[in-house]
Amino acid sequence: MGLTVVVGISGGIAAYKAVGVIRALVLAGHDVHAVATDAALRFVGRPTLEAISRNPVETDLFEGVAQVRHVALGQAADLIVVAPATAHTIAKIATGLDDDLLGTTILASRAPLVIAPAMHTEMWQNPATEANIATLRERGVTIVGPESGQLTGSDSGQGRMAEPEDIVAAALAVTGPRDLAGRRIVVTAGGTREPLDPVRFLGNRSSGLQGVSIAERAAARGADVTLIGAHLEVPVPASVAFVPVGTARDLQTTVTDAVAGADALVMAAAVADYRPESVAETKIKKEQTGDELVLRLVKNPDVLAELGAQRRPGLTLVGFAAETETDDDARLELGRAKAARKGVDFLVLNRVGWAEGFVTDRNSVTVIDAAGTIVTEASGAKVTVADRILDLLAR
Ligand code: CTP
Repeated sequence: MGLTVVVGISGGIAAYKAVGVIRALVLAGHDVHAVATDAALRFVGRPTLEAISRNPVETDLFEGVAQVRHVALGQAADLIVVAPATAHTIAKIATGLDDDLLGTTILASRAPLVIAPAMHTEMWQNPATEANIATLRERGVTIVGPESGQLTGSDSGQGRMAEPEDIVAAALAVTGPRDLAGRRIVVTAGGTREPLDPVRFLGNRSSGLQGVSIAERAAARGADVTLIGAHLEVPVPASVAFVPVGTARDLQTTVTDAVAGADALVMAAAVADYRPESVAETKIKKEQTGDELVLRLVKNPDVLAELGAQRRPGLTLVGFAAETETDDDARLELGRAKAARKGVDFLVLNRVGWAEGFVTDRNSVTVIDAAGTIVTEASGAKVTVADRILDLLAR
């Protein structure tokens, strides 16, 4: 059955991409009402929005006052998607300002709210915007993107609006099935750090975004989620229980405790395979080490393989495999060997490299089962990939 969806459009160049969002929602069978700010209508034409949405476009707070439009729209909505959400609109939503139809509609609604920010990198990284986004996340608003890439000018960076299909997928997922209700899922994310001395560590480039997206989506689908995070560079969703960890051995202790009674463990964390044999008590000094410094490393426990070896029935294990191998078949073979070695039920294979896997908001994965058979292939925003991985646990 179709949903009543309000698509809010605020005034940024990405407003033209809102057309794609509306189109995808309409084609999926939903009743879409576009609410555009005045500024938005300077970027995208009303006739376009009306033709694509098949409904009149609402802009003015003082139109249709007799039907109390702002309240009616807000109350009728099953879902509100704001795409693009400018820094200004984000600030207004965070503060609860309602000086236009979009503001009043959002304020008068109890529907889930999904926003797709779009702005220049400096504006996205401004502490004011960061604080507003943190507020919205805490209130349970789903934030999709922004992505890194070419911006409107000649510059590039984080701030590009997410692609319409990813926004629609994230938005529909919010209203989607609570098919993980009652399940207890432990997710690890981020990268462990192994100290060398009080100021230095050996680490890796994992930001934690893929694991955090899995935790966030699992919670949205009704699961009781524990997120074990090592040095996360992304915000922790308010919907999960969070335990921060530092080293691989910290992570092992925490995971071992957390999986007691859990239905599934998703090991998205990049765990250091080795740690310095000894940690210097004081800062390692050049005068003492000279022109060369040789580090002696010892092997860390393989958290996943140990859990796989002494498997408790009822605990589903999902591992990740980060491989730099560029040949698809060869990478699949590495994955099959790794799945067997770790004793997992599913292994999510993804290609990593200097420019792949870590630095982007997107991912492309192949999931195999314990027998090495491909069960899922998914690509898109990390949140979309998260849902496809969770589909396997829901089944
Ligand atoms: N993992 C783990 N403990 C480790 C290393 C990895 O639990 N000490 C987990 C990761 O969280 C991931 C999976 O094992 O789910 C595979 O990690 P990956 O780095 O791809 O494999 P490695 O075992 O480190 O093998 P290699 O470095 O040889 O590719």
